[in-house]
Amino acid sequence: MKGKVALVTGANGGLGTYVTQALLDAGATVVGLSRKIQQSEFNSPNFTALSAEISSADGAKTAADILVSRFGGLDILVHTVGGFAGGQSISETEDATFQRMFDVNLYSTFYLLRAALPVMRKTGNGRIVAIGSRAALEPGAGVGAYSASKAAMVSLIRTVAQENKDAGITANVILPGTMDTPANRKFMANADFSKWVRPAAVASLIGWLVSDAGKDVNGAVIPVYGSDV
Ligand SMILES: NC(=O)c1ccc[n+]([C@@H]2O[C@H](COP(=O)([O-])OP(=O)(O)OC[C@H]3O[C@@H](n4cnc5c(N)ncnc54)[C@H](OP(=O)(O)O)[C@@H]3O)[C@@H](O)[C@H]2O)c1
Repeated sequence: MKGKVALVTGANGGLGTYVTQALLDAGATVVGLSRKIQQSEFNSPNFTALSAEISSADGAKTAADILVSRFGGLDILVHTVGGFAGGQSISETEDATFQRMFDVNLYSTFYLLRAALPVMRKTGNGRIVAIGSRAALEPGAGVGAYSASKAAMVSLIRTVAQENKDAGITANVILPGTMDTPANRKFMANADFSKWVRPAAVASLIGWLVSDAGKDVNGAVIPVYGSDV
């Protein structure tokens, strides 16, 4: 991936850390975005930290503008930013919770894609991978706001795949089951971690999807559920 410019959103999150490292290891120039991220978090001359809030249209547009001015374009976009809320039935869900889920899971995706797609179309090729959730297809009790926001995000990515196939751009979405992240280990300390999906496995799949080998996969919705199928 030498010469490719990649943007990883949520670059220092549980999954994003693995994705960023995998793309750096593959030789890409990686811009790692989160609200709070520092240059020292990845030890590579090919890494650039970019602090931005992408649940706002302005934040996403500014991030895309910085990419163009500093790197001249964008080849790969891996969007791992997301958030979770659970424990409330729909009849109990507060406006603020519903809004927060849609802001972080759906609006961030919309604002980012709207800002990045013109840049990618100019580049003449592109790879987009977004992270949904198993709950997008299999909603369960108590996670309605989260599931609905991820389901809408899946729809958005599939639309983007259709609208940009003429420009050599692919857009796919991965639906992980519960991943083995430090945050999940903390909040579900008694769970059987061995059943969880390894973030490194998801990062490896992403690495393939964004490589030349993945160019024929477009508009796919890919479940990664580990042993809990
Ligand atoms: N963990 C799981 O078991 C699981 C299961 C299924 C699906 N997923 C999905 O997989 C993705 C990655 O999950 P994860 O566990 O790695 O999440 P995570 O550890 O919470 O990481 C989220 C990352 O996004 C950044 N972020 C959050 N809101 C942002 C915003 N508005 N603007 C810019 N950056 C923002 C966070 O950093 P800052 O807070 O510094 O901004 C962090 O780097 C998410 O989309 C999640 O919904 C996770």
